[in-house]
Amino acid sequence: MSPAAAVLIPGDGIGPEVTGAAQRVIAAAGVEIDWQVIQAGQAALASGGAALPPELPAAVREAGLALKGPLTTPVGSGFTSVNVRLRRELDLFANLRPVRSLPGIRSRWQDVDLVIIRENTEGLYIGEETWEDQDTVSAVKRVTRKGSRRIAQFAFQYAREHGRKSVTAVHKANILKASDGLFLDTARETARDFPDISFRDRIVDALCLDLTLNPRGHEVLLCPNLYGDIISDLAAGLVGGLGLVPGANLGDGCAVFEGVHGSAPDIAGQGTANPAALILAGALMLQHLGEHQAARRIETALNWILENGAVLTPDLGGTASTREFTGAVIKHLDTR
Ligand code: NAI
Ligand code: MG
Repeated sequence: MSPAAAVLIPGDGIGPEVTGAAQRVIAAAGVEIDWQVIQAGQAALASGGAALPPELPAAVREAGLALKGPLTTPVGSGFTSVNVRLRRELDLFANLRPVRSLPGIRSRWQDVDLVIIRENTEGLYIGEETWEDQDTVSAVKRVTRKGSRRIAQFAFQYAREHGRKSVTAVHKANILKASDGLFLDTARETARDFPDISFRDRIVDALCLDLTLNPRGHEVLLCPNLYGDIISDLAAGLVGGLGLVPGANLGDGCAVFEGVHGSAPDIAGQGTANPAALILAGALMLQHLGEHQAARRIETALNWILENGAVLTPDLGGTASTREFTGAVIKHLDTR
C-alpha cells in the first residue's frame, strides 16, 4: 500500500519545532506519510511568498489532510489571519478540541474530559469591519441557519458516536437575541433529532464560571466561533496549559490538525516548546486515517512520559528540551 499523503505546514514561531516532533513520533509509530511541506504565514512572507500561498488550499484539498503548526497574525493591523482564511477557504466548518486531564500533570483538576466543538467559518471571524467615521468602527457578526445547523448536527453526531450523553450550546442570546438566538434555536431544533442525547444551553459568561468550578459538569460544548476560541484557552488552562491540547479543523473531505496554541513568540527558537499538543494532533490525524493502533500507541507513550515526570518541558515544570521530550516519547514507543 502506498503511504498516505498529507500536507505539512511548519508554521511560525515554535511551529517548526513542534510539527517536526509530531512527524518524528508518527514515523516512529510505524506510519509512513508522504509529506508535502508548504510554508504559510510569516515564514512564507519572509521567503518572498504570500502569507497564504495559492497552492496551499489546493494541496490540502487534494491530500484531504494536513498537519499544521501555528501561524502568527499581526495584532491590530497587517494581514488577515491566515488560519481564519484557510478554514474558510477549505470550509473546515468544525473545530474539534478534546480537552482532557493527562496523567501526572499538576493542575487543580484531575478528571476533565470535555470536547469543545467550535463553529469555524462564521460569527465575528468573517472579518467584516468598517470604519463608519474616524472614531467609529462596526464589525459584522454573521450567523446563518445553514452554518448553525451543520455545526449543531456535527456536535450531536459526535456525542452519539463517542458515547457522550449531553451537548451544551454556549451563547449570549440574552443580549444578542437575533444572532446568538438563531444559533441557539437551531441547536434546540437539531436536538429533537437526537433524543438519545440530552441538550442544555448556557450563557457564555456563566459557562466560564461553571468550567472553573466544576469542569465535569459539561461534556460536549457547542460554541459559536468567538466563544469557542476563548473557551478553548480557558479549558486548556484547566488541564495544564496550551502545550497539551490538540485540535482538528474538519470539513467535507478535508481535515487540518493542529494544536490549540499559537506561535508562542515568547519561547520561539529556544527549543523548549512542549510538542505534546502537536503529537496529540498527530494522533488525531492517525485516527482520522484509520491508523487506530498507532494513534493509541502514541497516546500511551506520551501519557507514560508525562506520568513518569522525568522528562518534561519547562511549561510543565521540567527542564527538558522539545527534542529530549520527543526523544523520550519515541524511546518509550520503541519499547512497546
Ligand atoms: P500562544 O498560544 O502562542 O501563547 C500563549 C502562552 O502559552 C505563551 O506564554 C506561550 O509561551 C504558551 N504556549 C503556547 N504553546 C505552548 C507550547 N506548545 N509549549 C509551551 N508553552 C506554550 O498565544 P499568543 O501569544 O496570544 O499568540 C501568538 C501568535 O499565535 C499570535 O500571532 C496569534 O495570532 C497566533 N495564534 C495562532 C494560532 C493558530 O495558528 N492556530 C492559534 C492561536 C494564536
Ligand atoms: Mg485561539
